[in-house]
Amino acid sequence: MPEIALKVENLSKHFIIRNNAFSKKKIIKAVEKINFEVATGESLGLIGESGSGKTTVANLLVKLLEPSEGTIRLFGKDITHLSEESMRPYRCDIQIIFQYSQAMLDPKMTINELLREPLEIHQVVSQHQIDDEVNRLLKMVGLSETEKAKFPSQLSGGQNQRILIARAIATRAKVIICDEPVSSLDVSIQGQILNLLMRLKQELDLTYIFISHDLNVVKHMCHRIAVMYQGEIIEIGPTEKVLSNPQHQYTQKLIHALL
Ligand SMILES: Nc1ncnc2c1ncn2[C@@H]1O[C@H](COP(=O)(O)OP(=O)(O)OP(=O)(O)O)[C@@H](O)[C@H]1O
Ligand SMILES: [Mg+2]
Repeated sequence: MPEIALKVENLSKHFIIRNNAFSKKKIIKAVEKINFEVATGESLGLIGESGSGKTTVANLLVKLLEPSEGTIRLFGKDITHLSEESMRPYRCDIQIIFQYSQAMLDPKMTINELLREPLEIHQVVSQHQIDDEVNRLLKMVGLSETEKAKFPSQLSGGQNQRILIARAIATRAKVIICDEPVSSLDVSIQGQILNLLMRLKQELDLTYIFISHDLNVVKHMCHRIAVMYQGEIIEIGPTEKVLSNPQHQYTQKLIHALL
């Protein structure tokens, strides 16, 4: 039996919003009591219409958000309420790749500095090995060492997406959450980035949670699919089964709309 990389129980995130100091509080149940587990080396797709809670789940898993209730276990360790300090050893293990936008990479840093940063923060290798490690990362994501002196504005969207991927694997992450990692790219480039993610998964034995609007992408990338609707997971199962024989009416509609 493969080890369980990630186990989520009863996980909820409620946002409380007020339009102004006098208006009534409004509770948005962005994620509502979800449960799932992902085995080591597995790839779980997360689909659902816009606003169904997918990014909120991603942010909860990497602890960019505090859950309202529930637990998150990473390789058996309950990380739900770990402080920033106690989370440090586990932060390397789970990383997130968002879709590339200019806000994702500091425009004032060179590619070299952007790749050195996670290596230095997490002390992945010793100081004198950092240059070699940067070169190794560039090679792994299919970029040449000549890009090191450049700034993100001098690279294409696809190349910058490769930098985001390199930063995620720099920490020797075992679990990677990919939130729409190719949606901002040209269709011709999307395939290249997906192939890169597939190759890295094999080479590094990665576990993925893969969020995408594109069912063809999910079909290609994922062993299982979880379908979100209004914050809940309404259906979860093997990719082929969910796509060919969806049980829930919403999934049927979603597949019809997206395929
Ligand atoms: N920080 C926040 N404060 C208040 N409400 C939020 C916040 N973040 C998300 N929400 C709300 O939570 C719900 C889920 O949002 P989320 O971004 O997780 O959806 P999503 O499935 O990722 O959508 P998309 O496919 O458009 O990316 C939405 O109703 C959204 O407006
Ligand atoms: Mg989203």
